[in-house]
Amino acid sequence: MRMLVTGGAGFIGSNFIRYMMGREDIAHIVNLDKLTYAGNPDNVREWEGNPRYTFIRGDIAERKLVSHLMKAYKIDTVVNFAAESHVDRSIARPEVFVETNVLGTQSLLDAARAHGVAKFVQVSTDEVYGSLGREGYFTETTPLAPNSPYSASKAGSDLLVRAYHETYGMNVNITRCSNNYGPYQFPEKLIPLMITKALANEPLPVYGDGLNVRDWLHVEDHAAAVELVVRSGRPGEVYNIGGHNEQTNLEIVRLILAELGKPESLIRHVADRLGHDRRYAIDPAKITAELGWTPRYTFAVGIRETIRWYLANETWWRRIESGEYQAAEEDRIYG
Ligand code: NAD
Ligand code: DAU
Repeated sequence: MRMLVTGGAGFIGSNFIRYMMGREDIAHIVNLDKLTYAGNPDNVREWEGNPRYTFIRGDIAERKLVSHLMKAYKIDTVVNFAAESHVDRSIARPEVFVETNVLGTQSLLDAARAHGVAKFVQVSTDEVYGSLGREGYFTETTPLAPNSPYSASKAGSDLLVRAYHETYGMNVNITRCSNNYGPYQFPEKLIPLMITKALANEPLPVYGDGLNVRDWLHVEDHAAAVELVVRSGRPGEVYNIGGHNEQTNLEIVRLILAELGKPESLIRHVADRLGHDRRYAIDPAKITAELGWTPRYTFAVGIRETIRWYLANETWWRRIESGEYQAAEEDRIYG
């Protein structure tokens, strides 16, 4: 397999590449990443010089570049992780979300079609389904009802991917995963933010009443699911990915504080996120029945390992916190 992985210097993309580099039938992985504030060369340094791996700094929306890469590296499989991924940033500045998530995906689809790519996997999110009440789960037939500019841009790209299957017969899949946690997650997202703040004895900002529910999955279980979809997903199908692990934000924050031996007095309830989705929960029955996927991590083990990873890799997140190149990138993108 000759794979183009986009956004491979980010959290999930870099974990996916790590997972796939161990597979003997992966002849080459080209990692195309713009290195926005969230893209970190430290995440992918271990493959520098590896003949099966090439890093290209560039934008998925650059049509000529994307087309050139697919041709030059004889790409047969595209896995699109590249995205602006943080909801709060999308509320502050929506435009780059449309540029990357919608136009970028279309640029990739056009190039993949032109070069006869055999499989195109769009890594999407459960947030495209909107918000649940106390009961029920998102299935693949739940109507799309995105509530943030981020999730609306992801829903837009999903619809383009779907349309390229219906119109041009492209072999596509869309995956919709719940919240990921694990190593290399940028410390703007709930779990790494709370770990790093607790370690610094800083207040932990919990939005609203803290009772919003997310369905947490270890990033390696997500990588395993994406691999199965790449290899065996039925053309045109959507696969939801989640491990039935619902937790309120307060439960997560209290667990982190307890693990680190820090007091709950660090918790600060702050103003709620605009349009804050109340509950996400995935029904993974389809990917389990069709592709045999089940998560390997229990949350109890995964979260402890993750906390230990942040403790052992303080240099990694300190470099981000003080990182001059990230600040420069952010300035360039957000003005
Ligand atoms: P991330 O923000 O950690 O990484 C995104 C990566 O994409 C970065 O390396 C960034 O530099 C790169 N990128 C951004 N714009 C680009 C562009 N125009 N061209 C090329 N590269 C670009 O995100 P993540 O959490 O790893 O999420 C990866 C994908 O998985 C996203 O598509 C996201 O929507 C989806 N997803 C995330 C979660 C989650 O919990 N984090 C859950 C489900 C789905
Ligand atoms: O469900 C999948 C999605 O999960 C992905 O598509 C997104 O890319 C990813 O960012 C994530 O979105 P969320 O908005 O759910 O994740 P976030 O970590 O930003 O927030 C998780 C919950 O914690 C949410 O209810 C908001 C809350 N929160 C978050 C932050 C950053 C806080 O209470 N305080 C905070 O400081």
